[in-house]
Amino acid sequence: MTDPATPPEPAAHQKIDTSVPHSARIWNYWLGGKDNYPVDEQAGDAYTAVFPGIVTIARSSRAFLRRTLTYLVTEAGIRQFLDVGTGLPTAENTHEVAQRLAPEARIVYVDNDPMVLAHARALLHSSAEGATAYVDADVTDPDRILAVAAETLDLGRPTALILSNILGHVADHDQARSIVSRLMAALPSGSHLVVDDGSLGVDPVFEQAQAAYNDSGAVPYNLRTVEEITAFFDGLELIEPGVVPVTRWRPDPGSPAPETVAEHGGLARKP
Ligand SMILES: C[S@@+](CC[C@H](N)C(=O)[O-])C[C@H]1O[C@@H](n2cnc3c(N)ncnc32)[C@H](O)[C@@H]1O
Repeated sequence: MTDPATPPEPAAHQKIDTSVPHSARIWNYWLGGKDNYPVDEQAGDAYTAVFPGIVTIARSSRAFLRRTLTYLVTEAGIRQFLDVGTGLPTAENTHEVAQRLAPEARIVYVDNDPMVLAHARALLHSSAEGATAYVDADVTDPDRILAVAAETLDLGRPTALILSNILGHVADHDQARSIVSRLMAALPSGSHLVVDDGSLGVDPVFEQAQAAYNDSGAVPYNLRTVEEITAFFDGLELIEPGVVPVTRWRPDPGSPAPETVAEHGGLARKP
């Protein structure tokens, strides 16, 4: 299967709200993208005025995603990817990294932001041998995600679930854990989970900036302790080096000594 048809326009009830900053658009701003509005730029600048390190976190997180995808394709033999909380298209999107290494790779992207939906076409430039699809769905509805993903992925085959900077949008930790469990339960042995998220207990200035952001009227984002992030991998086999600052997860050979960032991530295999 090649590219599915043009993704649907956002429904009337899903108008892009340019009055409130959105995480997809602010993240895009920090990543150096152009798909954002003045309200996002202002919120992003207010954040960096307190904690400039957020830009390093955002970029380190994308680099972590690239390295985990490379591991998944080249070492774990994974060819199917379910990327929930995709974000706006940027450099090195999941399908670009995966299909560069394995053109037959199949990728399903999931997000609930109408702006991401409007830009989804850029996520759907699949290789001829593989497939990409975009699902407009909420992470809190794993059953719907799985049902629609099954139209593109064979969920009887090992699949990598990617949850990169999305679980903080689910305020309740037990609910977030249950979403991860529900999604992983539907995937067979040999499937993998990638999670990375902003971490508590590393940098008080980061936490101060995040608290101010959450009080600003933006959709809040909840940082989690390293223990809480690690708990998302319960029942799975963590691949070395485990849950670590993302810069320390198998850094590229020859890269400078990684700095510690308040963004922890890991990769695990379902036994
Ligand atoms: C901080 S961005 C992360 C983007 C990308 N995963 C990355 O790490 O570069 C968070 C993404 O989660 C999406 N998101 C937020 N709440 C969501 C929800 N309830 N269901 C699905 N996606 C959601 C946002 O629209 C945004 O694209």
